[in-house]
Amino acid sequence: MNYYDKLDFENIPSHIGIIMDGNGRWAKKRNLPRTFGHKEGTKRVIDIVETAYKLNIKSLTLYAFSTENWKRPEDEISKLMDLLAYYIKNQLEKIIKNNIKINVLGDYTKFPSSIVKLIDNALQRTESNDKMILNIALNYGGQTEIVDATKKIVKDIGDNKISIDDINTETFKDYLYTKGQSDLDLLIRPSGEFRVSNFLLYQLAYSEFYFSDILWPDFNENEFYKAIYDYQNRNRRFGGL
Ligand code: FPP
Repeated sequence: MNYYDKLDFENIPSHIGIIMDGNGRWAKKRNLPRTFGHKEGTKRVIDIVETAYKLNIKSLTLYAFSTENWKRPEDEISKLMDLLAYYIKNQLEKIIKNNIKINVLGDYTKFPSSIVKLIDNALQRTESNDKMILNIALNYGGQTEIVDATKKIVKDIGDNKISIDDINTETFKDYLYTKGQSDLDLLIRPSGEFRVSNFLLYQLAYSEFYFSDILWPDFNENEFYKAIYDYQNRNRRFGGL
């Protein structure tokens, strides 16, 4: 079924987050090394960013590397870094042309210096873009994000920039890595896992969850439309009736 034709373009989620999962299993099913799955997964990143842009989605957040992913074998980590470098080098001009702003969630300074330089350049060159924000979660953990926010708040209070009474659930968001962006409307997790895996813990308070058995390297545009179509048929009440 073609889900694009079923979409309600007046009700496109503003912020979508994706836990790109299943690359390893995709490769294993084909008797290929896991890294082939990551390579194919990177092609889906290119497709889905383009699709999100065409749908006028305001923020797209992709979970590319968690604080726990350092536990993986060194050669797999190194291949993921190569793919990230490839993505930035290969896509940056198109991203700039399309007025997309890149934002990194997480402490990417722990990555190799060549990657840090590429990221810094991409951040700087897309800084004033405002059609869509592409958040790439790198060395990201949702709990760490909340702890970091808390530390920044304590510091601002200590520096007399704000008072305790200024802190509420809205102003807290100004201290998150997604400052200025809306909360997550839709969380997509492919590959048949039903976990949140420390992703956007604060921002997903009222988001709709979409789980799919499709592995990330097979998650094409139509699967993305299907997830949005499913979202559009939910009844979001935000705690009301
Ligand atoms: C999870 O699959 C996927 C990752 C840990 C990496 C995601 C990274 C990319 C798709 C490529 C680089 C990113 C960008 C933004 C260009 P898994 O390896 O955990 O799969 P499995 O659960 O089947 O083992």
